[in-house]
Amino acid sequence: MKKYLVIGNPIGHSLSPKLQNYWLKQNNINAVYDKIKLVENEIKEIIHDIKKQKIAGCNVTVPFKKKVIPFLDTLSPEAEQTQSVNTIIFEKGNLIGHNTDIFGFDKAIKNLNFNMKGKKVLILGAGGVVSSIVFALKKMNVLKISISNRTKQKAENLKILFENLNILEWGNLTDFDVVINATSLGLNNEEINLDFSKFGKNKLFYDVIYNPSETNFLKKGKELGNITENGGKMFIYQASEAFKLWHGIEPVVNFETLKLLKND
Ligand code: ATR
Repeated sequence: MKKYLVIGNPIGHSLSPKLQNYWLKQNNINAVYDKIKLVENEIKEIIHDIKKQKIAGCNVTVPFKKKVIPFLDTLSPEAEQTQSVNTIIFEKGNLIGHNTDIFGFDKAIKNLNFNMKGKKVLILGAGGVVSSIVFALKKMNVLKISISNRTKQKAENLKILFENLNILEWGNLTDFDVVINATSLGLNNEEINLDFSKFGKNKLFYDVIYNPSETNFLKKGKELGNITENGGKMFIYQASEAFKLWHGIEPVVNFETLKLLKND
């Protein structure tokens, strides 16, 4: 039986196995998808197992999306530009790194029917997923991307990959049409200690976090009269694109799929 994996650290709360195994069953594919918590010096061996086809393919999550790159043979153009890999496939003897987070974010925004063109976007955080979000936003022709991260240097580093990013001090917010929480604040019910009230309403408050389904950031956004959306659809669509890369089948995404993200 073919075996697929998600690797990361921590990995305990990953819902990827639940989602991927659901689609495997739905499509009568004789395979299993598991999760493994790794430390950095174990990456090489796991990836070697893909080359040997002991493992058929894998997803990569925090904090290894960049760290896996040296062990791969080639990257898709999107993975190359973002220096971020979340899906590894084995094709014609080569290990190929893909980035399906971009697709996930793009499709989630399209699903919302929100037109990003000409919008001012403020991103909070500069962790692993931010280069994918910036890539997707640039393709949507946003007007301006500002990034505010507690560790300013990490936001500055993104300028190596992308032009025209406006880097702000943490807490020094600028006017926005869309604000995206890409920090880990909210995973454990934390508040983000920033004042969004002076920017008016009818903005989009987007949180990459989907579990809990409504972070304090989204609660506050809603209270202030804004549109809110969590990272659930982004998560599902990055997974569906990975499934398609491995199995050549686009899995069904519907209300049932969304329900899989709950009660865990
Ligand atoms: P990584 O940074 O390893 O890629 P991540 O989960 O993708 O991990 O990113 C966590 C993000 O949340 C980072 O932007 C982090 O800010 P730092 O770069 O300063 O670490 C941000 N973050 C985590 N805890 C935070 C806190 N208490 N206040 C503000 N930002 C925080």
